[in-house]
Amino acid sequence: MGKNKLRENPYNMRMMFVETLAKTTVDAGREWLRRAGVPQDRAGHFSTGLIPICPLQQEHVPAIQAHMLSLGGHDRYLRFGFAATDEQIKRYVDELNFERDEIYGIFNRHLDIVAMAHLAILKETGRDSMAEFGVSVQAYARGRGYGGRLFERAVMHARNEQISLLYIHALSENAPMLRIAKSAGATLERDGSETEAYLRLPERDLDSRVTELVADQFAKANYSIKEDAIRFWSFLANVQEIRDGVRAGRHQAAE
Ligand SMILES: CC(C)(COP(=O)(O)OP(=O)(O)OC[C@H]1O[C@@H](n2cnc3c(N)ncnc32)[C@H](O)[C@@H]1OP(=O)(O)O)[C@@H](O)C(=O)NCCC(=O)NCCS
Repeated sequence: MGKNKLRENPYNMRMMFVETLAKTTVDAGREWLRRAGVPQDRAGHFSTGLIPICPLQQEHVPAIQAHMLSLGGHDRYLRFGFAATDEQIKRYVDELNFERDEIYGIFNRHLDIVAMAHLAILKETGRDSMAEFGVSVQAYARGRGYGGRLFERAVMHARNEQISLLYIHALSENAPMLRIAKSAGATLERDGSETEAYLRLPERDLDSRVTELVADQFAKANYSIKEDAIRFWSFLANVQEIRDGVRAGRHQAAE
């Protein structure tokens, strides 16, 4: 059976099932919350839709580093405010604090990171907690809503962590980033080539907590399906290699 045929059949069917299941679960959850009288405000709206966003851990460091290093000079400038060198990027990745902060990734089917966000959390006793949001999307995957969805995911977590203020530092030329911030209701303060955006977050509620749980479960399920698919194709490649070896052996024996 051809590789394409195999890919068309069981793989797509399973994805459709998972997608439908996830959507149904989310819709049912929202309906349940609505009936329970929980207001469905915009900030808590689950418009992450069917884009699986995984909270990243230490084990994802190689994929994070590969994603960051793949950003071109201008993107590094937009992301960090300066054209970070490879060394500076490696140091940034090495110093990521997975305990304190939240780091999110969107993976392709090869489990490469296509888009990632870093929510750096600042908690000080006696002060309101704050967080800073940074994001990057691989050039080929822009305009698909990944940046916006990562922002919404980070807002949801920040609310659940009782963070009251979200801060974004962007260059004034960075139209998509400023649009994401502005659409969410952030106040923008332009200072020449740089702009600071502040977003005051609503308090957490049942909706934001349930939605975060569902979003995480969906992302975990999606990630393990991709892992299984990679294992399956590598198994198939090994089988093919063995078959080729046996066939070559037979030919030699026959000659
Ligand atoms: C900023 C960035 C993350 C946006 O990612 P993205 O996945 O393309 O963003 P989205 O597809 O969610 O689009 C966000 C919004 O910007 C709008 N947009 C996209 N390109 C735009 C452009 N060139 N000009 C104006 N608006 C634009 C989109 O229409 C969307 O608005 P909408 O939701 O109202 O339609 C991406 O461009 C990037 O990685 N840039 C390099 C790193 C960076 O700048 N990081 C931000 C600083 S922390």
